[in-house]
Amino acid sequence: MHVLIINGSPRVKEYSNTDKIIARFTEGLAENGTTFEQYEISDRKQWDTIRDAFYKNTDIIIALPLYVECIPGLLMEFLETLTPKTDGTRLSFILQSGFAEGIQLRCGETYLEKLASYLGCTYMGTLVKGDNFGIRFVGAETREKITGQYMQMGCEYARNGGFTSEECRKFTGPEIFPAPVRLLVGLMFRTAAKKNFIKVAKEWGCTKPLDYRPYQ
Ligand SMILES: Cc1cc2nc3c(=O)[nH]c(=O)nc-3n(C[C@H](O)[C@H](O)[C@H](O)COP(=O)(O)O)c2cc1C
Repeated sequence: MHVLIINGSPRVKEYSNTDKIIARFTEGLAENGTTFEQYEISDRKQWDTIRDAFYKNTDIIIALPLYVECIPGLLMEFLETLTPKTDGTRLSFILQSGFAEGIQLRCGETYLEKLASYLGCTYMGTLVKGDNFGIRFVGAETREKITGQYMQMGCEYARNGGFTSEECRKFTGPEIFPAPVRLLVGLMFRTAAKKNFIKVAKEWGCTKPLDYRPYQ
């Protein structure tokens, strides 16, 4: 099998968490002899090539980060330039996000199922997983812990041609955290994480407080 993989993140390849996920995922694909070609939506110069590849290929994965509960605007802009297919193309999605609970990706997942039919493709499932905020900030060992799990899913895809298996469903992890964990995470965001956000903002040259509301 040969798969077209489109990275739908608006972040350039070097800084894209989705790219790091794809890198490990495709190692799993390769184990079963599946080949692939990959393109980035963030690089507008590639859009003509991606469109050609979309029309030419019949096994396609769009890998995307959740941006404000749904799909990134730049990806949407690209998708609107496509004409629906009629050749029985199988379309799957890798949907990943910052926050860990599966439940907050479900709305996006439902949309992606509809999107496959808008594009004239057969929907082959979505691999849903959060907890990926840190990929580009953490050291090599922690990054490997986060992204390494996707290699197994690459093997699953190569075996089944989609993400419809029970293994893929389980990959999401907890749908919702238990109440004590939710309280703890809330507390962490108001204290340690907030301190860290402020530090990162300062390093990036931000001079206003993070809750600054100039238009209020
Ligand atoms: C503008 C923006 C909106 C985001 N919205 C969400 C969100 O609604 N839920 C979530 O869990 N993560 C959200 N995230 C986090 C990203 O999904 C996460 O960091 C992802 O790994 C980024 O992948 P990328 O680097 O390939 O773009 C958002 C990130 C950005 C920059």
